Amino acid sequence: MARRLVAVAGVAGALLFLVEVRAQGPTVSRDGREVTFSRDVAPILYENCVSCHRPGEIAPMSLVTYQQARPWARSIRQEVLQRRMPPWKADPHYGTFRNDRLLTDQQIATLVAWADGGATEGDPADLPPAPRFAEGWQIGTPDLILTMAEPFAIPATGTVPWVNLPSSEYVVPEDTWVQAIEVRPGNRAVVHHAVAGAIAPGDNPNLGAENLHLYSPGLGAMIWREGYGKLLRKGTRIQFGMHYNTVGKATTDQTKVGFKFARKPVHTQVHTTILANTALAIPPMVRRHQAVTVFQFPADARLHGLRPHMHLRGKTGTASLIYPEGLRRVLLHVPDWDDSWQNYYVLGEPAPAPKGALLEFMANYDNSPANPLNPDPRSPVLWGQQVWEEMHSIYVTWTEVNDQNAGDGAPIQVPADKAFTTGVLGLE
Ligand code: HEC
Repeated sequence: MARRLVAVAGVAGALLFLVEVRAQGPTVSRDGREVTFSRDVAPILYENCVSCHRPGEIAPMSLVTYQQARPWARSIRQEVLQRRMPPWKADPHYGTFRNDRLLTDQQIATLVAWADGGATEGDPADLPPAPRFAEGWQIGTPDLILTMAEPFAIPATGTVPWVNLPSSEYVVPEDTWVQAIEVRPGNRAVVHHAVAGAIAPGDNPNLGAENLHLYSPGLGAMIWREGYGKLLRKGTRIQFGMHYNTVGKATTDQTKVGFKFARKPVHTQVHTTILANTALAIPPMVRRHQAVTVFQFPADARLHGLRPHMHLRGKTGTASLIYPEGLRRVLLHVPDWDDSWQNYYVLGEPAPAPKGALLEFMANYDNSPANPLNPDPRSPVLWGQQVWEEMHSIYVTWTEVNDQNAGDGAPIQVPADKAFTTGVLGLE
């Protein structure tokens, strides 16, 4: 009896304690001080949010200053608790990614505590240094800049069809190694994503055999470690594949791509193979249509990055390595595909892919009325670049293992802030 009383008292005590912590918990940080914008929240926003939430970027509002962030406190709380912001679509149970945008539980707790505690400013002297945004090129001054030959006009409203636009007249004069590539949208407000493609003699310009790099919101430049590079073959032309959004007023865009040539001899060619299932055919009114495409590694290789691509009927996408002995390893799983967030996933560690291994991309499509994004469930859907058509493709970035690179760590350089907001990465 006594023991039970003690137990009850203990539980009650624990409950009281919990209530107490609840009552004052949300407004204080771990060290017992009040959670303020200047000291606690700004560092999180600078590192994880302002790459998109700043003037002229794709997000609807800026979160750079206290005055700008304050009205959004409750909405921020909501978005981060549900992990809708920052946008990051990979299932955290599979693989790790060097450019992931996942907040830690502690960061989420801080943002929630700030909102719940009245979203105070605190002492502006506590603010971390204001984020610097790369005004110019993140890769430093490019050795070669190619611009879309003409500005492209984007109307105020409606859907702009996907367009492939040539760069200003330029033909690669001789085989050239590039070590860094950056695609800079001319007008960030309207560029949904922009793909710089290399069309070598004999390539199909509607597909291209080789992806150079792309811009999509939140994705920065691509910089390879010394000794690695992409080969621009003699005779190659550069084209821009452009997906535009409309924003309520007519405007124009003229996107650019910048290249830094390799400074040191290149021992390892970086391939970004575009795997595409152009035979894709999704029947009308089908809730779950599965499509698969595979790529076989022609030599012992290491895999570095993946960029799955689908449109509005895409629902889930999974990229796996299938080893010659049959073992399967899931590298990337996107459980709720969202066409707005076209990400390029940089693997945490290069994945070894022995000769003969397969990279499999498997995806599910919903062409039924249950899919709220579906433009027309009654029509069969075929492969096509327009957003009302469908794609089933994945860019696979890989290198061949050789004597000079066998011990190398990951060759893609990702800066600490992941979003490339703080400027030039070097490579002079
Ligand atoms: C890669 C770009 C990007 C990053 C990074 C990002 N956001 Fe967003 N955010 C957007 C876009 C675009 C929208 C509007 C469309 C949408 O909601 O998907 C948005 C919407 C929001 C909204 C909802 C606005 C509304 O209308 O209710 C909130 C709140 C928000 N973001 C907070 C954050 C916070 C906090 C972070 C960082 C922890 C963050 N976002 C990181 C792009 C981004």
